[in-house]
Amino acid sequence: MRERRNNICVCVFMLLYCMACNNANSPSNPAKIYSDTTYKMTNPQNTSRGKELFEAKCIACHGVDGNYKNNNAADLSVTVIDSISIINIIKNGKGAMPMFGSLFPDPDLAQIELYVKTLRK
Ligand code: HEC
Repeated sequence: MRERRNNICVCVFMLLYCMACNNANSPSNPAKIYSDTTYKMTNPQNTSRGKELFEAKCIACHGVDGNYKNNNAADLSVTVIDSISIINIIKNGKGAMPMFGSLFPDPDLAQIELYVKTLRK
């Protein structure tokens, strides 16, 4: 009986721990991510990592050139939104675009954001 109670304690503890973890990741502040990472990159011109991630996660809707417009995706070759808004949309989603939450570590997010801007004509 005592053992079962201990198991319940462990479960409750783990549940609380998981919730705390999620909270630690969730204060998604796009402006902070942008200022923390983008300007600190040694070579912001090199967006090969951003390209790789974009081609893995984004082209299904946006296409390699950003203008595929599948699922009514915004045309990234003509978009004019600023960097912080781009980061915000990737993290939190918009309309039919899914949120990517904390899937991308901040430096990767900054790389994708830089790459998205290279798609503009
Ligand atoms: C399931 C399809 C889908 C995927 C996958 C997707 N998007 Fe989108 N995206 C959309 C749609 C739809 C919109 C338009 C949202 C709206 O305005 O309602 C959009 C809008 C955007 C915008 C805003 C453009 C503007 O000018 O308003 C950006 C930036 C963007 N996506 C970047 C990305 C990036 C980067 C990825 C990959 C990490 C990605 N998207 C993955 C569907 C998608």
